Amino acid sequence: MQRIPFLDLPPLASAGGSVALPGSKSISNRVLLLAALSQGTTAVRSLLDSDDTRVMLDALRELGCGVEERGDGLVRITGLGGAQPRSPARLFLGNAGTAMRPLTAALALLGGEYELSGIARMHERPIGDLVDALRQLGCHIDYLGNDGYPPLRIAHGGGRPVLQLDAPIRVRGDVSSQFLTALLMALPLVAQQQDLVIEVVGELISKPYIHITLELLARFGIAVQREGWQRFTIPAGSRYRSPGEIHVEADASSASYFVALGAIAPSSNGKNGLNIEGVGLDSIQGDIRFIEAARAMGAQITGGANSLQVRRGSWPLKAISLDCNHIPDAAMTLAVMALYAQGTTELSNIASWRVKETDRIAAMATELRKLGATVEEGADYVRITPPASSADWRAASIHTYDDHRMAMCFALAAFNPARLPVRIEDPGCVAKTYPGYFGALFSVSQAAGTDIPVICIDGPTASGKGTLAAAVASQLGYHLLDSGALYRLTALAAGGAGVAIEPANEPRLAELAAHLPVRFDGARVFLHGQDVTDAIRQEAIGMQASEVSRLPAVRQALVALQHGFRRLPGLVADGRDMGTVIFPAAPLKVYLTASARCRAERRHKQLISKGISTIIDDLRADLEARDASDMQRSTAPLKPARDALLLDSSGLTVDQTVARVLDWWQARRPFSA
Ligand code: DC
Repeated sequence: MQRIPFLDLPPLASAGGSVALPGSKSISNRVLLLAALSQGTTAVRSLLDSDDTRVMLDALRELGCGVEERGDGLVRITGLGGAQPRSPARLFLGNAGTAMRPLTAALALLGGEYELSGIARMHERPIGDLVDALRQLGCHIDYLGNDGYPPLRIAHGGGRPVLQLDAPIRVRGDVSSQFLTALLMALPLVAQQQDLVIEVVGELISKPYIHITLELLARFGIAVQREGWQRFTIPAGSRYRSPGEIHVEADASSASYFVALGAIAPSSNGKNGLNIEGVGLDSIQGDIRFIEAARAMGAQITGGANSLQVRRGSWPLKAISLDCNHIPDAAMTLAVMALYAQGTTELSNIASWRVKETDRIAAMATELRKLGATVEEGADYVRITPPASSADWRAASIHTYDDHRMAMCFALAAFNPARLPVRIEDPGCVAKTYPGYFGALFSVSQAAGTDIPVICIDGPTASGKGTLAAAVASQLGYHLLDSGALYRLTALAAGGAGVAIEPANEPRLAELAAHLPVRFDGARVFLHGQDVTDAIRQEAIGMQASEVSRLPAVRQALVALQHGFRRLPGLVADGRDMGTVIFPAAPLKVYLTASARCRAERRHKQLISKGISTIIDDLRADLEARDASDMQRSTAPLKPARDALLLDSSGLTVDQTVARVLDWWQARRPFSA
């Protein structure tokens, strides 16, 4: 999503249907490497498509692995088996620590000549402890920049290095758990003759990630034995075996928002709760235990290996008191669920919240209070009591502190019983783990149609409505309806069907309009699957559209199509009768004008930029004729709605016009500044 200043969520009423979550990043890159080290082909399903997985795939290709990408999230990796990777090779690994660390370890053990580098930030991320551990074994690794950091060179011209594998391999565990992960994934390559032991020096951090590594190793045939989190043994004779097919789990923390949604929202008509695809009850990710907490609050959750089904159970939710040390990220979602619980919810042992993307305890307390909750915060806990009654809820603008999880969990406040909208500031921050989050949320949530805001922008030809409407829609993250395009499409379709645009053909033209085979894809418009974006903008089609729009049956036939554009989170609609006929109850109506002279000049410039030469006076005459026709027709004539705000853009730039409309809109929103 484009970085917009805020996204207003209308009050949401229900949820239902199915949502497919994106794959987990840490699982994706581990699976790719393990498949590359195995014998045979592994079909990897639901791989996350992100910068970090892209660099890994490129590196594997470079090293001689077979990589076949099928557009639908399925990637086939044919591994090296016992073979040497292709060498010499230069690998660019962007900012992917999950590629740099394990590849360094695997390549150093396998031998060959390689250079591994990344973006500037990658060259500031430590790797010295891993390199030290590998050097202990006899691997030859040089730093090409600063000691202790990438870029690196691995140099073993003559095949595999001679390794000393008798003594336990010691690695620090308190800087990054990725060093241990890297060794755990690389050492099975050389564990033919003897057991290999890894000893962790210092307290191991991020244990759930090591758990993921061990689980994935097991799926590729490596049974690591573990004594606490201090000592790991890779048994002699270990050999990577492809599982044939493997599914990348969706991110369990991302799933928590949809589990909560299912627990909070009444089920939409005809839907039996919410189905979450991509992660299931036997997930290997630590945050899956969020489900136990959600159940304790009242959610009804069932699931299989790869999906979860959630329905509202107890209502209101039950307040809980929970030590959240095992689910620090997903616990934020519980804090927002607490808004819908009876009584006070206490989330404790969350000191780590204070040192995450932001001080999450302080942030959570501040923003929950804005909504009307009573919050007590301590060094390592929060206690949340929801607003006492529906009247105590407030329409709040939620600050998100560049923290993707703040943005995602506070969206759930839109189910408040007071039916107040919720503003999420900087909604684009969700891109860190889930760029499509709001789209996914809207795809399974329903609002009362009348709660979805529509901003109408009507006015005569060439007043700049289209430009204004598109800019306002993109600033607000709303959908856009260019209603003129529908009349233009009808005219084009009539031409294609050989139906002359004249009153005698009104029924046939209406029939065409009612069943336009149209598809909108961003700014492009398709008719019968053909891109007609430019075709419908021709002047001749504009004149025909004006003719066709005079026919009442055609106008009527297009009503349902236009109403269908009113979707979450909101709509900006431009045309002639948006405010008067199609959306008469819209909360903001703008009637945009400009002098005929000014409009003719703008159109003239626009046409010249397309290489079409015209005479201004002719254009002005055409515009005035079209205005007269649009204003004088008997059905839905062009005129300002009674409650429209008039905006003459003659002396204004586009930016000034957009700013004026956004100001008007802000003034009508319930959020205090
Ligand atoms: O805005 P435009 O130039 O794309 O519109 C093409 C024609 O369609 C215009 O002459 C009037 C007609 N129209 C209409 O009657 N009602 C609308 N809501 C939009 C356009």
